[in-house]
Amino acid sequence: MQQLDWSNLAFKYRKTNAAIISRYAGGEWSAPAAVREFELPFNLYAGVFHYANSCFEGLKAFRGVDGKVRLFRPDENAARLRRSAAHLDMAAPPESLFLEMCLQCVRENIDFLPPYGFNASMYIRPVLIGVNPQLGIASSDEVLFAVLGSPVGTYSGAAGLSTGTAVLSRNYDRAAPNGTGSYKIAANYATSLHPYNLAHKQGYRELLFLDPATKTHIDEFGSSNFLAIKGNSYVTPLSDSVLPSITNKSLQQVAADFGMKVEKRPVPLEELAEMDEVNACGTAVVITPIGSLDDKPTLESAEITRTYRFGDPAKCGPVSEKLYRRIRGIQDGTEEDIHNWCVEL
Ligand SMILES: Cc1ncc(COP(=O)(O)O)c(C=O)c1O
Repeated sequence: MQQLDWSNLAFKYRKTNAAIISRYAGGEWSAPAAVREFELPFNLYAGVFHYANSCFEGLKAFRGVDGKVRLFRPDENAARLRRSAAHLDMAAPPESLFLEMCLQCVRENIDFLPPYGFNASMYIRPVLIGVNPQLGIASSDEVLFAVLGSPVGTYSGAAGLSTGTAVLSRNYDRAAPNGTGSYKIAANYATSLHPYNLAHKQGYRELLFLDPATKTHIDEFGSSNFLAIKGNSYVTPLSDSVLPSITNKSLQQVAADFGMKVEKRPVPLEELAEMDEVNACGTAVVITPIGSLDDKPTLESAEITRTYRFGDPAKCGPVSEKLYRRIRGIQDGTEEDIHNWCVEL
């Protein structure tokens, strides 16, 4: 294995030692197996290729200050995958199998786990896809569950984008009212590819979606939840069409531990002008500051009708920084894990 530059990992594909797979057919999951080649043969009629019979997860493993390896809240990811799969009417691995395969994935790829001190981690990507051949639109009877692990540093979206810049998506929605926005299914990400490309071409790093029913309230960013600090409050949108982020859920607890008021409620767009700090939060981005947000009539338009400014685009505001340090400390073993969130290898 070539020596990795742990300080400059970014968030990108790397071939690692092994992926762990299990197949579900006839009501049974096969014993997990490590595969060294990632190019597997699939029937071209598999549902995953046509009807997006696919859902996935994202979590991280960290090498702590004490040398221990910690996975952050894998039980939450297991539960969310089961919820997503249930919405697709596909079989999902039980929590015990999910956890076993995540741990095996880290063990098999342990030489790719970044050492402590580089603000880097191993991103674990469990993915569940429908593999039996089919022609009609139907949920898959046979599924493949794979757990992949890749070393990652900070998430900067596409290359060359300014940190902390975002644009509002007025003419594209990532979710529909009564749709699938709250599930981590592949189809949701297909919806946001084109608007993301438009935003990225204009140099914006993030894209903020509005609630699809009324377009008056904030939903979330395409790859992360929205979190704002307003006085002593932690404010995050309550909406049926946003992904229930495990990072956001954890940060709400951390904020409450700090004595902050946690407000999970509909957030009107106009309230942006009253926010002290605005961030994107999620497993990949952790807490990433949003320094400015442009409002445009459409993503294609050259006109900017309003710019909201929230502070330094390259640095979290003071309250967000405090939350960031606490959560990263728990992951790195420098802060006490009082809520028992981490699972040790
Ligand atoms: C659309 C979307 N929202 C929010 C999140 C953050 O969720 P989590 O904190 O569980 O990673 C993600 C990333 O997983 C995401 O893709």
